[in-house]
Amino acid sequence: MPTLKNFLFAPLPMALAASPSLMRRGPKTDFGLYAYGEGIGGAQVFTTGEGAFVGSVSASNSTEAAPVLFDVGTGNALLGSPNATDTAPTWSNLTLSVPDATSSSHQVSFTNSTNNGTGVSSSGFVFYGQYLFHQADGALQSEWYVLPSGQDGIWTLNWNSTGDDTDGQVIVTLRAVGPSPDATSLVSDTAS
Ligand SMILES: *[C@@H]1O[C@H](CO)[C@@H](O)[C@H](O)[C@H]1NC(C)=O
Ligand SMILES: *[C@@H]1O[C@H](CO)[C@@H](O)[C@H](O)[C@H]1NC(C)=O
Ligand SMILES: *[C@@H]1O[C@H](CO)[C@@H](O)[C@H](O)[C@H]1NC(C)=O
Ligand SMILES: *[C@@H]1O[C@H](CO)[C@@H](O)[C@H](O)[C@H]1NC(C)=O
Ligand SMILES: *[C@@H]1O[C@H](CO)[C@@H](O)[C@H](O)[C@H]1NC(C)=O
Ligand SMILES: *[C@@H]1O[C@H](CO)[C@@H](O)[C@H](O)[C@H]1NC(C)=O
Repeated sequence: MPTLKNFLFAPLPMALAASPSLMRRGPKTDFGLYAYGEGIGGAQVFTTGEGAFVGSVSASNSTEAAPVLFDVGTGNALLGSPNATDTAPTWSNLTLSVPDATSSSHQVSFTNSTNNGTGVSSSGFVFYGQYLFHQADGALQSEWYVLPSGQDGIWTLNWNSTGDDTDGQVIVTLRAVGPSPDATSLVSDTAS
């Protein structure tokens, strides 16, 4: 079993053996998710209603873009609603979904009850402390990575970089804790 120190600094992607004693109480309602990695110091997960992104919502060219606040649902699904103060997105109650092991896609997405796709897993999201993992085949996995989206300050959120050789990948962890208010830069200038 990795120690907490190993856990924090182990190379990613990583898999931990699932054990009830390992589970720590994570957040349950109204929390954001924030990506941390090299040059990315807590960029919040947002969506325009389908794909998952991290970075600057205001830089998005979509009026549907809003940061996501999550609630834990049945089977440890993560149900997302917009934290919309300035905009009024039409989406609500979307389920965070990662590609499953049969999928060749890497995209993390949000699905609704009529468009819940195939080749994705929409449940089994588990926190270890404030770190988000996905549980599959008895293992906790953190295979999050981001890619430049083409829009400045915005990255696409992806899962399982195996077989993806796209330039500009940054391996990240997802945490339920935002950056400290002292952080000078959430997204490095290299995001484009
Ligand atoms: C929702 O967004 C507002 C404005 O950006 C922010 O002040 C607030 O902390 C957010 N709420 C949560 C629960 O993150
Ligand atoms: C939100 O979505 C979940 C999963 O699809 C569903 O079980 C739940 O009833 C929905 N809640 C609302 C308020 O629509
Ligand atoms: C990651 O992708 C590889 C190649 O597509 C696949 O063989 C493997 O099962 C995937 N792993 C997970 C955890 O999705
Ligand atoms: C997924 O979509 C199918 C087909 O539309 C629907 O029958 C099923 O209830 C949906 N599942 C969830 C969890 O929303
Ligand atoms: C579900 O998502 C699809 C694709 O994003 C969208 O076309 C459809 O309108 C959505 N359905 C509902 C009930 O929101
Ligand atoms: C928003 O930007 C993306 C990426 O540059 C582009 O593919 C898309 O067409 C743009 N959408 C609009 C509505 O301008």
